[in-house]
Amino acid sequence: MISRDTIDTILSTIRIEEVIGDFVTLRRRGVNLIGLCPFHNEKTPSFTVSPAKGIYKCFGCGKAGNGVGFIMEHEHFSFPEALRYLANKYQIEIEEEIQTAEMQEQISEREALFNLNQFALDFFEKTLHTAEEGKAIGLSYLKERGIREDIIRKFRLGYSPSTWDALTANAREHGYSMELLIKSGLTLQKDERAYDRFHSRVIFPIQGISGKVIGFGGRILTSEKNRPKYVNSPESEIYNKSKSLYGIYFARNTISSKNNCYLVEGYTDVISLHQAGIENVVASSGTSLTHEQIRMILRFTKQITILYDGDPAGIKASFRGIDMIVEEGMDVKIVLFPDGEDPDSYARNHHPSEVESFITTHADNFILFKARLLLEETQGDPIKKANLVKEIVHTISLIPDGISRALYIKECSALLNVSEQILMNEVRKILRNKLKKQLPEVEKPEDIGWMEAVSSPSQEELDLNSDIYQERELIRQLLLYGQEEITLLRTDEKGKEEPFPVRVADFIIIDIVRDELEFESLLYRKIFTEFVEARERNEIPDDKYFKLHSDPEIAHTAIDLMVSPYELSENWEKNNILIDEEPKHIKELVLSAMLSFKAKKLDKIITAKQKQIREITDPGEVELLLAELRNLKVSNIQINKELGRIITK
Ligand code: UTP
Ligand code: MN
Repeated sequence: MISRDTIDTILSTIRIEEVIGDFVTLRRRGVNLIGLCPFHNEKTPSFTVSPAKGIYKCFGCGKAGNGVGFIMEHEHFSFPEALRYLANKYQIEIEEEIQTAEMQEQISEREALFNLNQFALDFFEKTLHTAEEGKAIGLSYLKERGIREDIIRKFRLGYSPSTWDALTANAREHGYSMELLIKSGLTLQKDERAYDRFHSRVIFPIQGISGKVIGFGGRILTSEKNRPKYVNSPESEIYNKSKSLYGIYFARNTISSKNNCYLVEGYTDVISLHQAGIENVVASSGTSLTHEQIRMILRFTKQITILYDGDPAGIKASFRGIDMIVEEGMDVKIVLFPDGEDPDSYARNHHPSEVESFITTHADNFILFKARLLLEETQGDPIKKANLVKEIVHTISLIPDGISRALYIKECSALLNVSEQILMNEVRKILRNKLKKQLPEVEKPEDIGWMEAVSSPSQEELDLNSDIYQERELIRQLLLYGQEEITLLRTDEKGKEEPFPVRVADFIIIDIVRDELEFESLLYRKIFTEFVEARERNEIPDDKYFKLHSDPEIAHTAIDLMVSPYELSENWEKNNILIDEEPKHIKELVLSAMLSFKAKKLDKIITAKQKQIREITDPGEVELLLAELRNLKVSNIQINKELGRIITK
């Protein structure tokens, strides 16, 4: 357990723009910074960071939070993991509080897996550099391949001994459970026997974007035909293949500064290019890119250069995959390596300066490359040519940006000797059809995480007819002004009105609990319950209490409510006047929120009773219900009158 003091130090030290700046390229706009949201796919930035407030909010997908929340969401860390990450970033020493057995159990499985992977990494690395077998077999293999010592260290390459269960046994001795070892994929079990998945292999640790080891790849050193050349960690709680890119941790800054990302196939390509001084490179590990991987790259650059070791047949097979990258709005270039060479072998056989210049002189625009390659094959056959035009038009239609589309149409028209008008018409036809298909659907962000589930209420929810609106407003007042004091009037025994001061939180809580009113929204109910419980301890939770709440849903909802939707928007200046006004009218705001809430609840109860009356036949019961209804209506009228008095005052 991280001590409260340490948590406070971390919170007061971190600067949100620096924390987020490690993952998102931010530009200044007025008092805020903006960038492309890392949580959903967007082409124009709506992700806003407020250094002054220490929070971020995306106006596209609704995600919001503070620096710790960002790390939790972005890195899929638990709260303590995020704190440790930040402590490390700002070199803050962590003071631990003694853990109880119960606390220990709560350490998440994710954290346990990360710990185990770190342990395995150290084990493999140590074996490579110090054990006899590691040095004689593993290290000498890497050296023979020409990988330099500093690069071996940088990528933390390792070796897994040929003993069947060397790592498993060692990890067991260090207290790691069999269950965890199997979950991580480091250990395999067959007929009651446990053995190391990676035994007798050179190890390539796979690091996530923040440098933590999420999995491993292991290369065999013999040329046995019946065993795969590489084995990789299976998917786990912390390793999602379609979301990771080998080398991203070392590449991300350079990708951003060079504004280009090289994409290669394998571990060794990444490593050899690094050795040649080219660091903006990641590997897809033998498969074509997924949407998630493309989006990860898009956070740093819009330009991707695919380095191909290939024969034309292989390249043609990958065209569809590359279309997907075009569709995401990336500029795709392609570099073909000479026959039989991959980036790794080329880099090994050439001087670093030659590698760089080979890539830059051979980089070819993907769409034109594709058109040229297909054109070669048509050899004047008109039907083949018609198909080619269709194919190219299809790819061009995927480009999200209209100007780029027009430029490609121009170039392809010249290249294919087809008029621009014809190409343009074909592209339009496809776009129109696509639009038709899309119309009934509202664009919504994919990738539903916990934040998604609680993102800002939709317009529909905000409709005044829904009682979510009243609940939301009341909780907002509670969060923002709970500590404030307002002065109400009450009638004393003699019927004289006298002023009495009360804190907003007390006023709201007492009223709602007394009238036994319930919140329909589960999240608002949770927040309200927190207030009730805190009040029993004689406390009123402040904004920090909620911002750092261990339930991320609660934290997110609270932050969302505390940040006015206008506050971070572009019209900040204009709307800010209104926001500045708000604190001067707390009493009116609170009273009207309270009354609106009650009026809405009463409305609902009345409607329910009316329905009940229609369904009941027993005259006595109907009589009773009618009386009840009359009373309710009287209260409702009173409330509305009161409300009118406050609003029109
Ligand atoms: P390659 O066969 O091109 O490997 O597969 P490589 O990187 O050039 O390896 P060397 O040079 O022979 O050592 C490219 C990538 O595909 C994945 C690995 O990620 C590899 O780096 N792969 C390949 C596997 O996962 N399993 C395999 O059996 C083969
Ligand atoms: Mn190779």
